[in-house]
Amino acid sequence: MTRKIIIDTDPGQDDAVAILLALASPNDLDVLGITAVAGNVPLPLTERNTRIVCELAGKPDTPVFAGCDAPLARPLVTAEHVHGTTGLDGPVMQDPVMALQDKHGVDFIIDTLRELPEKTVTLCPLGPLTNIATAFQKAPDIIPRVQEIVLMGGAYFQVGNITPAAEFNIYVDPEAADIVFKSGAPIVAMPLDVTHKALTTADRVEAFRAKGTEPCRMVAEWTNFFERFDKEKYGSEGAPLHDPCVIAYLIQSDLFSGRHINVQIETEGRLTLGMTVADWWRITDHPANVTFMNQIDAEGFFALLTDRIGRL
Ligand code: RIB
Ligand code: CA
Repeated sequence: MTRKIIIDTDPGQDDAVAILLALASPNDLDVLGITAVAGNVPLPLTERNTRIVCELAGKPDTPVFAGCDAPLARPLVTAEHVHGTTGLDGPVMQDPVMALQDKHGVDFIIDTLRELPEKTVTLCPLGPLTNIATAFQKAPDIIPRVQEIVLMGGAYFQVGNITPAAEFNIYVDPEAADIVFKSGAPIVAMPLDVTHKALTTADRVEAFRAKGTEPCRMVAEWTNFFERFDKEKYGSEGAPLHDPCVIAYLIQSDLFSGRHINVQIETEGRLTLGMTVADWWRITDHPANVTFMNQIDAEGFFALLTDRIGRL
């Protein structure tokens, strides 16, 4: 039984790898559509990059939609310092040929959740939560219809990557994250606490290159570009492949483990804006609202990625 998903994304090299993994797994995942959001780079680039990746996967019929171009209540913060000016720096990428859908990404999310049977569609946000929160605000009736939200975002023991306290996806639109985390929809979060254990070591990058396919070559090229930032900042031996953790979980959930706990979003802190305040030790009696992952079988994760993307 394939799982029906909508990917919401801000490519970004790691988003691109996540999209390739999803499109390479048709026996596990039915990608109903991909909605782009402003994040790593502005919306015109994230929607362009999404279409480029769909074509690279050989799936130009994948419906791609442009969503929101700015956070709910704040100016957009981008991450060209990590992803480069195009968002997919590393190899030179040709402009896409496949068309962008006319419908707004938020309306695609709303219409899909209304049209399909309830609890049969999983939302997979890989960037700021602006599109998801806007859909929930515009059409609250869709919230109980969501099967699950499996997202990349947040951090607790790993603290911040865009500020000392906050992870990028949450920091860019903390009001949107607050709406989603309070929505009542079942949430699985892949925070930096787990993604920082999925590092692209030289051997792992070489395993992609050794597949000899264009998608795998691109993954190696993107990784070589993307990892320079994290290696310099953390002194690590590679870069964390954040977003593919979301898709890998949907395909092979036993690669991951974590805790079902209460997580709240800081929306006012002068120093802590965008922090995911995770009650990991259950100090409060606030109800658990998120399965917050912190362990990964990294070898199994990269074996899955290399095998699946190697099939494209
Ligand atoms: O903090 C990492 C997250 O921010 C990833 O989703 C990356 O693509 C950026 O969006
Ligand atoms: Ca992303």
